[in-house]
Amino acid sequence: MSQSEAPALTDAELKLLQTLVYQECGMHFDDRRTPFLQDRLQRRLKECQLDSFYSYYRLLISQPGKQELSQLLENLTVNETSFFRNKAQLDLFQKEVMEELLRHKQERRDYNVRIWSAGCSTGQEPYTAAMLVADAMSYHYLRNPLPFESPLPKPLVPAPWRLEILASDINYSVLRAAQEGSYPEHQMTPVDYGYRLRYFDKVGDRYIVKRNVKELVHFDFHNLKTEYLPQRNDIIFCRNVMMYFDEAEQKRLIEKFYRCLNPHGYLFVGHAESLLGMTDKFQMVHHNNGTAYRRVEVKM
Ligand SMILES: C[S@@+](CC[C@H](N)C(=O)[O-])C[C@H]1O[C@@H](n2cnc3c(N)ncnc32)[C@H](O)[C@@H]1O
Repeated sequence: MSQSEAPALTDAELKLLQTLVYQECGMHFDDRRTPFLQDRLQRRLKECQLDSFYSYYRLLISQPGKQELSQLLENLTVNETSFFRNKAQLDLFQKEVMEELLRHKQERRDYNVRIWSAGCSTGQEPYTAAMLVADAMSYHYLRNPLPFESPLPKPLVPAPWRLEILASDINYSVLRAAQEGSYPEHQMTPVDYGYRLRYFDKVGDRYIVKRNVKELVHFDFHNLKTEYLPQRNDIIFCRNVMMYFDEAEQKRLIEKFYRCLNPHGYLFVGHAESLLGMTDKFQMVHHNNGTAYRRVEVKM
C-alpha cells in the first residue's frame, strides 16, 4: 500500500490509541509529539496489513495482539543514551552519595549494595554505574580495609562487599543490545582511556564490556507502569524516562520509587526532570551542578 493509499487516522481512533498506549506504559503524547505517534502507527498498520486504525486497535486489545502491542511500544520509545551522561550528577553520585552509603553500610555491617537503572536503554547507564561503583568501593576499601581475604585474581568488588545492579526496560530490543554490551567507537567518546583500558575489551572496531563488569549487571524487563517493581534498592537511576509521562503518571512513579528504595535511599532523575512541587517524600541534594533526591524518613 503506498503512503497515499494509507487510511486516514481519525481523531477518535487517535484518542483510542493514545489512551491505550498511556494505560499500557505511561507514555503521554502531547500535541508536540502526536506527529511522531501518528508516524509510528502508520508504519505498524502497514506492517500488519490492516485497512483501518480501528482494526489495529482491536488487534492490540486482543489476546493474539499481545506481541504486536509490545512491538508498537518498542517503536514508540526514545532510546537515546550515552556513557557517563550528566557528568556533574555522576560525580555527586560517586563522590558524595556512594561515599556516605558505604560508610553507613559498613557501620551496620551490611555489605550489600543494590542499584536499579530503570529505563536503561542499551546499557550505557548501568555499565557506567558499575564502573563508578566498583571504583568507589575499591577506594573506600583502601581507606577502610576489612579483615577479609580477597581471592586472586582480585575481583572488581572487594570482599565482603557485594554489588548488584538491576537494569530494566520495557523494550526487549534494547535489553538484548545492553546484554551484548558491545559498542562502536563513536559511542565511546565520553569514556576516557583509563576506563576503556580497565573495563572494555577491544574486538575489531568495537568495545566490549568486560565479563567481570557484565557480571555485576542483571538485565530484565520491567514496565514502570505496573505496581510490581524491584524492591530494596539503595539507589535508583531513572533518568530521561519520566519526561515522556504526564504529571499524574510521574507522581505515581515517584510514589512507587519511594517504596522501592531502602531508607535514606537516593533517586537520580534526568537533567530536564525534577521532583520539585511533585512530592514531599524526597529532599533535593545539590552539589557542584549535580542533583539527586534523598528519601525523606518519617520520624516516629
Ligand atoms: C531516553 S532513554 C533513557 C536511557 C537512560 N536512562 C539515560 O538517561 O541515558 C528512555 C528509556 O526508557 C524506557 N521506557 C519508556 N517507558 C518505559 C516504561 N513504561 N517502563 C520501562 N521503561 C520505559 C525506554 O524504552 C527507553 O529505553
